[in-house]
Amino acid sequence: MIVVENLHFAYNGREVLRGIDLTMGKEILALVGPNGSGKTTLAKHLNGLLKPLRGSVLVDGLDTREHTVAELSGKVGYVFQNPEHMFFEESVFEEVAFGPKNLGLDDKEIEERVRWALQAVGLEGFEERTPYSLSGGEKQRLAIACVLAMKPKYLILDEPTTGLDLKAERSVVEVIKSLRESGHGILLITHDMDLVLELAERVVLLDDGRKAFDGPVEEFFELELEEYSLELPELLELARGLGVGFVRSVEELMEVLR
Ligand SMILES: Nc1ncnc2c1ncn2[C@@H]1O[C@H](COP(=O)(O)OP(=O)(O)OP(=O)(O)O)[C@@H](O)[C@H]1O
Ligand SMILES: [Mg+2]
Repeated sequence: MIVVENLHFAYNGREVLRGIDLTMGKEILALVGPNGSGKTTLAKHLNGLLKPLRGSVLVDGLDTREHTVAELSGKVGYVFQNPEHMFFEESVFEEVAFGPKNLGLDDKEIEERVRWALQAVGLEGFEERTPYSLSGGEKQRLAIACVLAMKPKYLILDEPTTGLDLKAERSVVEVIKSLRESGHGILLITHDMDLVLELAERVVLLDDGRKAFDGPVEEFFELELEEYSLELPELLELARGLGVGFVRSVEELMEVLR
């Protein structure tokens, strides 16, 4: 369990998180809100990249102020919003192997994890390429593979599908679903409401550094989303027009209509 209590944080004296309370377990939790509302800043507190100004963040009981990012990264993996400047190894293989090596795993285990992680994001065959030669979407998927290879209990994905084509987006969605099934907790930061509808079990909405909503996805989509610069998915728009309640997918809508 990740437990955030009364979290305050400021950059250069300007407060951007103003008393956040949050718990997260083995679930897919969507973190949404307008640009600049504090999503990335909050996410960076969950693996100790940032430390609270006031309040606390506990990861399975570990206070992030008392542990380094390296110590926490085995538990909480963080895929950055713009990962392209994060790579520093010669090859894709070495890039993904970096984390597991730091965990002190043996060569066989490292190799297995690298193959598994690259396969999960659809990058098998890219092992010998240099990370800088990858396209934007491929870099995004490499960043996810690097974190997957650590097998962290909790995963933070900061806009993981932004800039991906349909096929790449689908492969990331499948990765998220299979991680959820194997008992991981996933914090999904996104502006894509279709993705929230497809994946999220719970939604936390941030607005100007405060939590404006925290609850089940069905209730979230009953809010006036335009106020937060968000849009209702077309599927729900359509379902409403047809007088049908909450549905997750086109298939579900068809089922109800039949
Ligand atoms: N390193 C920094 N130094 C100073 N201010 C920062 C820094 N990083 C973020 N901020 C400010 O903190 C506020 C919250 O930023 P944050 O990146 O957490 O928002 P966000 O919700 O992730 O936005 P987006 O949807 O655009 O990714 C913004 O006003 C931003 O300008
Ligand atoms: Mg952000």
